[in-house]
Amino acid sequence: MISVILGLQFGDEGKGKITDFISRDYDDVVRFNGGSNAGHTVVINGEKFKFHLVPSGAMQSKMVILGNGMVIDPEELVSEIDLLKKSKKDIEIKISAGAHIVTKMHKCLDKREEAVRSKLNIGTTSQGIGPTYEDKYARTGIRLIDLSNKEIISNKIETIFNMKRELLKGSIYESPEERKKMVEDLFSYGNLILKYMDYTENIIYNDYRCGKNILFEGAQGGMLDIDFGIYPFVTSSNTLAGAMSTGSGFSFRKVDRVIGVFKAYTSKVGSGPFPSEIINDSTLRDLGSEYGTTTGRPRRVGWLDLPLLKYTTMVNDVDSLAITKVDVLGQLKTIKVVTKYTIDGNEIDYFPRRLEDFEKLRVEYREFPGWGSIKNQDSILSGGYEELPENMRKFLEFIEEEIGKSIDIVSLGEDRKMTITKQIFN
Ligand code: IMP
Repeated sequence: MISVILGLQFGDEGKGKITDFISRDYDDVVRFNGGSNAGHTVVINGEKFKFHLVPSGAMQSKMVILGNGMVIDPEELVSEIDLLKKSKKDIEIKISAGAHIVTKMHKCLDKREEAVRSKLNIGTTSQGIGPTYEDKYARTGIRLIDLSNKEIISNKIETIFNMKRELLKGSIYESPEERKKMVEDLFSYGNLILKYMDYTENIIYNDYRCGKNILFEGAQGGMLDIDFGIYPFVTSSNTLAGAMSTGSGFSFRKVDRVIGVFKAYTSKVGSGPFPSEIINDSTLRDLGSEYGTTTGRPRRVGWLDLPLLKYTTMVNDVDSLAITKVDVLGQLKTIKVVTKYTIDGNEIDYFPRRLEDFEKLRVEYREFPGWGSIKNQDSILSGGYEELPENMRKFLEFIEEEIGKSIDIVSLGEDRKMTITKQIFN
């Protein structure tokens, strides 16, 4: 079985939890995009594990692979590998020779680019993601394989510095000694991580040929995709299912199933349009503890948005849906769901691309009664879907009907065991 799992909103859908849950069925879990802008939380028997770079499937699979589509902060990677090895000694870790390297200079550039954007800033995670992808596409980027050669690192650092000199004015990177120190640090980190480096496209293909089960784990969410998200308030990589191919070297033609994860409501960090946003009421944010895993920033929170979900389901060609935080949403007395987008009173049948369209956009809601906090937890966990509160089932069935896909996984709490599935996942 070859599967892809992705977020269908603005990231933070709870992919970490669902990926951890399903990865028991997979030998390899492969990440193919993004870097430490991602924050995935996995909770096992009350113990919390937070990953930024390592795939969330690490706790249950045999091997994790960090694909060429990723951008890797070596310092963060070393600390995550240390942490992972403490809990799981036998895990195999492989990192693509072609993955790009985030340096401290990229993090500085990230902040400075945001300052230049001024009012139009994206609200990035300041992890150096954008500038690292810029260098990748400018063909000046530092790849993992380059970390074995000090001269190559130094030449690339100098080229990047020369290209971005204006932005780096007044920063410590104007000093040649600082740049030299950065080269030394990168080389030292290379010494620690190059043992995990491999030609991962070959490993994935060979494992596929041996009949192994492979899960491709997307980071961020569909609405942060650089092509199909709400540009420019997006991340710098493709976050959609199609990116699994270019980000790992394994063909999309072999994928059996695409699983789309969404939260029972919507949240977003950073700037930009958010059609279903709830303004001036932090109830849902507080109930759901909606604060960023990477930045700690309070997340913007809104209602479930079906036009948005239909769009990301389409562009990802999702087969199967997983919903998270239904337990949180149900605690509200009245729940709203966006069913329609209108502009000038007319329903639109496309997802807007012009920012002016978002200004004119109005949403229509349908209301549902809440289902309170979950009291019959044990009977739900043993009895499954049929034991769910009636109001919750009505809410889930409405979404299934609107989206035209089955919700096969329902998450009722952050712990791995708080998950129920329809038969295909049993
Ligand atoms: P960047 O990826 O750090 O450049 O940030 C670009 C936009 O994507 C910002 O609005 C971030 O808040 C958002 N973003 C990036 N990664 C994540 C994530 O994993 N979850 C939620 N938002 C994210």
